[in-house]
Amino acid sequence: MRAKKGLTKIKPYRGEVSRRELAQRLGLREEDILPLHANENLFIEKEWIKERIREALEKVDPRMYPDPQDVVVRRALAQHYGVNEEEVLIGSGADELIDGISRCFIESGDQIVTLDPTFQVYGISAMLHGGRCKSVLLREDFSVDVARLLREMDETTKVLYICSPNNPTGNQHGRDVIEEIIGNVDCIVVLDEAYVEFADYSLSKLIHDYDNLIVLRTFSKGFGIAGLRFGVALSNQEIVDIMRRGLQPYNVSNIAQYTALTLLENWGYLAEKINEIKRQREVLLEKLLEIEGLKVYPSKANFILVRVLKRGVRAEDVQRSLMMKGILVRDRSNLPLLDNCLRITVCPSYMTERLTSALKEALGS
Ligand SMILES: Cc1ncc(COP(=O)(O)O)c(C=O)c1O
Repeated sequence: MRAKKGLTKIKPYRGEVSRRELAQRLGLREEDILPLHANENLFIEKEWIKERIREALEKVDPRMYPDPQDVVVRRALAQHYGVNEEEVLIGSGADELIDGISRCFIESGDQIVTLDPTFQVYGISAMLHGGRCKSVLLREDFSVDVARLLREMDETTKVLYICSPNNPTGNQHGRDVIEEIIGNVDCIVVLDEAYVEFADYSLSKLIHDYDNLIVLRTFSKGFGIAGLRFGVALSNQEIVDIMRRGLQPYNVSNIAQYTALTLLENWGYLAEKINEIKRQREVLLEKLLEIEGLKVYPSKANFILVRVLKRGVRAEDVQRSLMMKGILVRDRSNLPLLDNCLRITVCPSYMTERLTSALKEALGS
């Protein structure tokens, strides 16, 4: 079978084993498996979200296609993010918008630049569309070496991705750094703010100051509907219009759109949950710091990166040991600068207890 050339260079983006499958393997109930591997929102009650979906269902007629202009939801999003309606584009998750960026801006041989270690979908998507991905390393402390980055950019660079807070390192880049970069490059800059609800500031409004900026947001993290798939791109009208031409018509289901609307109407509740996640992140951080043999990195996201320092113990061994106890975490050791690193989603306190005692056992501390 002759697949596209771009595909042959791509390692499959594989998540961990599913919760259901692991539960079956271990003879546990699905709800006993702790999903700390995908940075989902574990604080919003499932029933509360289901109720919002039921409300949304009452407002839509699933026999009909969604509004081709997505007017109602774009208006509400514009208000929420403090931008104009024409500056908002929606997608089936931020992933679909990343793919849309490749579809609209990457031609065969074009280059994208990523600041690594970072979210792998940027490179995968560009390569699928015939592009090349140049990786510029972050510094050891995960900050951006702007001079080095600018040196690596060339006339074939079409898109630069900056993830902030960065997945999987958890740090947020400063406003001055981001502005210095955007102001000094000619290409499109994508600022991925998937985790910004958990950080101190968002730079989304910079779309009003620069004509080459696209900001990505998602409802999978702060808003808690990863399974429904809903993401947002914010940019100037020209870029939004280009991308609307490149995306599938009716790309987001009307149920996802109306659930997003309902969630925006309940922002107060969600903001409380986000604060709870931020508080619990600090609790988890403290507890992880107490464990011997781990280096713990601070985080502005809903996950924490840790490095296994205990001699003779590999992150993959720790991951496997946790998995046997029904706890899923993500091994990020294959990424540059992240040898022996695991990424762990911030979770409610009863899960934190189980996690930390399993970690101590795995590390023999
Ligand atoms: C940095 C980053 N961007 C984008 C996404 C994709 O988000 P979505 O679920 O909206 O497709 C993720 C998902 O984990 C992510 O970590």
